[in-house]
Amino acid sequence: MPKPCKLAAGNWKMNGLRADLSEAESLARAFTAASCGILICPPATLIAPMAEALAGSAVMVGAQDCHPAEKGAHTGDISAQMLVDAGARHVILGHSERRADHGETSHLVAAKAAAAQAAGLVTIICLGESEVQRDAGQTLGVVLAQLADSLPAGAEAANTVIAYEPIWAIGTGRVPSVAQIAEVHDALRAKLPDPAISLLYGGSVKPDNATEIFAVENVDGALVGGASLKAADFGRIITALHAA
Ligand code: PGA
Repeated sequence: MPKPCKLAAGNWKMNGLRADLSEAESLARAFTAASCGILICPPATLIAPMAEALAGSAVMVGAQDCHPAEKGAHTGDISAQMLVDAGARHVILGHSERRADHGETSHLVAAKAAAAQAAGLVTIICLGESEVQRDAGQTLGVVLAQLADSLPAGAEAANTVIAYEPIWAIGTGRVPSVAQIAEVHDALRAKLPDPAISLLYGGSVKPDNATEIFAVENVDGALVGGASLKAADFGRIITALHAA
């Protein structure tokens, strides 16, 4: 049975101008031969210039969303094929900020993922409970239901990565205990359609807590928001993943 690939994925969210491409370039200079996947998902405006700047390097470029349709009358949206055309290899789907800000359901996420995978993108599908749900003891039920409904048919290690991101840990500096992370990752692994799918943890991953998080069984890497914006910070997280 092949082991899941390690992946350090940066989610720049709605941050980054052309001047910030230098952060991606210095990351590429620091990691020339990576033993884990390194990915930056900048805002859509930076996908093409970042892909050009990082061409031939060990750092891959991804997107943060796509539309489920191939093309057509969808003002303001971006298709999976357009992301490929711009140089993206991955796309984050179903991030809790999109589920909250844009009312995205797991079924819509599955439709987007099917379109993205058909276009040749690796989908990073995000799952996670709210604080209210955790306090009510519903975490595993919520996350496993999201997994069941958000994965398209044909999801396998070659086209799918899962990111467990407790909503209350995103951007807050609060991180679940290693036991809490392990409980969810173990439950997810047991339900994956392909056990070699990589399982990322996301939510306030920083250079100072990365080693502890990467030591948890069934954690294959991280989806990193704020700490991915600076090459120095993200680099320390990548180094911790290499060492894990
Ligand atoms: P954070 O964001 O690392 O800033 O908490 C993680 C994410 O939302 O992917």
